[in-house]
Amino acid sequence: MDIKAYLTKKKELVDKALEKLVPPAKLFPISVHEAMRYSLFAGGKRVRPVLAIAAAEALGARTADLLPVAGSLELIHTYSLIHDDLPAMDNDDLRRGRPTCHKVYGEAVAILAGDGLLNMAFEVLSDPRRLKAVPAGRLVAIIKEISTASGVFGMVGGQVVDMESEGKDVDFPTLEYIHTHKTGALIRASVRTGALYAKAGKRQFIALSRYGELVGLAFQITDDILDITGTQEMIGKDVGSDIKKGKKTFPSFYGLEESRTRAHEVVDKAVQSLREFDRKADPLRELAKYIVNRVN
Ligand code: IPE
Ligand code: IPE
Ligand code: MG
Ligand code: MG
Ligand code: MG
Repeated sequence: MDIKAYLTKKKELVDKALEKLVPPAKLFPISVHEAMRYSLFAGGKRVRPVLAIAAAEALGARTADLLPVAGSLELIHTYSLIHDDLPAMDNDDLRRGRPTCHKVYGEAVAILAGDGLLNMAFEVLSDPRRLKAVPAGRLVAIIKEISTASGVFGMVGGQVVDMESEGKDVDFPTLEYIHTHKTGALIRASVRTGALYAKAGKRQFIALSRYGELVGLAFQITDDILDITGTQEMIGKDVGSDIKKGKKTFPSFYGLEESRTRAHEVVDKAVQSLREFDRKADPLRELAKYIVNRVN
């Protein structure tokens, strides 16, 4: 299958859904709505929503009603990027090929735009008018999944340890904690969201969770590699940001070649975890490979 075409098609659907989820830029107070849209529509890959959709498809579900749920994952992801770039965090100037949110709107509005996106996600997830077709019980399970993965037991926890490890000689389990939490948790939750939506059986849910966990780790290893090997045009963000900040990354532990090998091994395991799934899981299999072979 053509994974590029699949991604493009799904990204279009996600972008259309997102357009309906966020307030218009002209709505008062304008600055925050403009800033939310500025970062959201700067051209992200939409990997998390697409993973949710692909997971639901792997289980044979129709995904039209999943789109607002998938969109909420992107709202949370975009919030995390705005905050990640702030001077108090990674202090980066470029994101998705544009000046970072705080460079354009100032730190206060950027922080609030992030807060706005995060809360908007849960507003969407708990809105029965938007999600008529999803039973309330299933939505609660999805909300629990996404909120847990985004908070201190997931992304926030990972970001804290990432910050506190700067310039320190941390051990490998700490690096793994950072990667599986700051990035892996939301990616795993995205896959599990699709699985919950599609009423996965217990074995299917366990297999998809394992897939999500491994793909999440491989995603961040690749992000670390691209921070060194990418160009600004390719990745749309500052290159060499990790080295500049004294971050511990997979390449700083193992070098580039070994990191690439490890990322591919992790993805092979992710694909193996789908062995009981039929052809409908091919997009998930191909997405896993795309995630380590990507150039942005
Ligand atoms: C970048 O995420 C930050 C990480 C969690 C590694 P993406 O590589 O998915 O960024 P966008 O959404 O495509 O801009
Ligand atoms: C980002 O990790 C993780 C989150 C945003 C939660 P990085 O700091 O490595 O992401 P980039 O490289 O800035 O996109
Ligand atoms: Mg960071
Ligand atoms: Mg960063
Ligand atoms: Mg990075």
